[in-house]
Amino acid sequence: MELIMVTLIIGLLLSLLFLVPRFIKSDKTNHNTYSDAKSKTVKTYNISEISLHNKRTDCWIIIKEKVYDVTPYVEEHPGGDAILAHAGDDSTEGFFGPQHATRVFDMIDIFYIGELEK
Ligand SMILES: *[C@@H]1O[C@H](CO)[C@@H](O)[C@H](O)[C@H]1NC(C)=O
Repeated sequence: MELIMVTLIIGLLLSLLFLVPRFIKSDKTNHNTYSDAKSKTVKTYNISEISLHNKRTDCWIIIKEKVYDVTPYVEEHPGGDAILAHAGDDSTEGFFGPQHATRVFDMIDIFYIGELEK
């Protein structure tokens, strides 16, 4: 009898372990959606402004009309200086090139700084 109780309790604890991270995650997603909807006043940059950030130590790129400051990433880039080829310019084509695994599509979000002004 005791053994059954212990097994039940352990089972309960295990299912909690699996459920709790899911709650935290969904909460975070909701929060992001909320703040995205709220922050309609995103910063925009025009192309002449972006083109000034074309150096290894100051590198912005444009991907699908979004602006990213990838300066901290230049040295990390597995493809080396290829990332600088379109510094201060539109990198959409290179970004979606076959050399990139799909995980870069998630990673790029942390460098997002604003939208390209049209
Ligand atoms: C781009 O933005 C900069 C800074 O806001 C401004 O000085 C410049 O005149 C703008 N250029 C164009 C072409 O809109």
